[in-house]
Amino acid sequence: MIVLKSERDLEAMRPACALAGTVLDEIAAFVQPGVTTRDIDEFAASRIRHFGAKSAFLGYRKYPCQICISVNEQVVHGLAGPRVLRMGDIVSLDVGVIYNGFIGDTARTVAVGGCDVPAQKLMDVTEKALYEGIAQALPGGRVVDISRAIQNYVEGNGFSTVREFVGHGVGRTMHEEPQVPNFVDGKSSPKLRPGMTLAIEPMVNSGLPGVKVLNDGWTVVTQDGSLSAHFEHTVLITESEPEILTWPEKVPSKLKVS
Ligand code: MF3
Ligand code: CO
Ligand code: CO
Repeated sequence: MIVLKSERDLEAMRPACALAGTVLDEIAAFVQPGVTTRDIDEFAASRIRHFGAKSAFLGYRKYPCQICISVNEQVVHGLAGPRVLRMGDIVSLDVGVIYNGFIGDTARTVAVGGCDVPAQKLMDVTEKALYEGIAQALPGGRVVDISRAIQNYVEGNGFSTVREFVGHGVGRTMHEEPQVPNFVDGKSSPKLRPGMTLAIEPMVNSGLPGVKVLNDGWTVVTQDGSLSAHFEHTVLITESEPEILTWPEKVPSKLKVS
């Protein structure tokens, strides 16, 4: 069952999503050479708490951290720990918060200090693939239109999209129907309707699409050791253009005190 959000639901969900975007912005600015992934998770905890929100990830299927921090060949669900980030690393930051009873889910990959040209291209293509997908988030279309746009853009640039993890509906719970794959899977695909809120999230590998899970039970890495990037927004299907709910500027000014 796909949950359509009412205008009243959206009044509660918009601030939750804006807050996720703002926290992600702040965390991205905190990343620099010499910080550990644990430092980042602790910083995330303090910013999420500051806004009166809660991590949507901590405790989800026993997930042990506030946010997901995935470095280099790590794709998603990386765990915070003593690892020191170095200049040239790329780090994927995935933030989910609960606020007003709703979840905002958003992710971005950033370079630590700076990175080489191939890594930058991977990040640029992944981010652009997200916006190619969002551009298809139109009423009357189907979820597969989003999937196809992402896959075509990514593969057209010589990279590959992960199959095992997909985007999803999001609202009062983190993973709702429908699934939003980053490739055309040939299954029947739901129609997009106003009121649907989707987490669109290309996970893109610079090499082959295969992934595996490390022994910690969480961290997903590329099978071939190639770099991976991840960008995500929570998006509302409207009667016309899609509305990107996790855009940080939309945070209500009363929440913006530092
Ligand atoms: N944020 C991820 C997503 O985009 C889900 C993380 S689940 C967790 O769907 F348990 F790892 F936090
Ligand atoms: Co996410
Ligand atoms: Co998500």
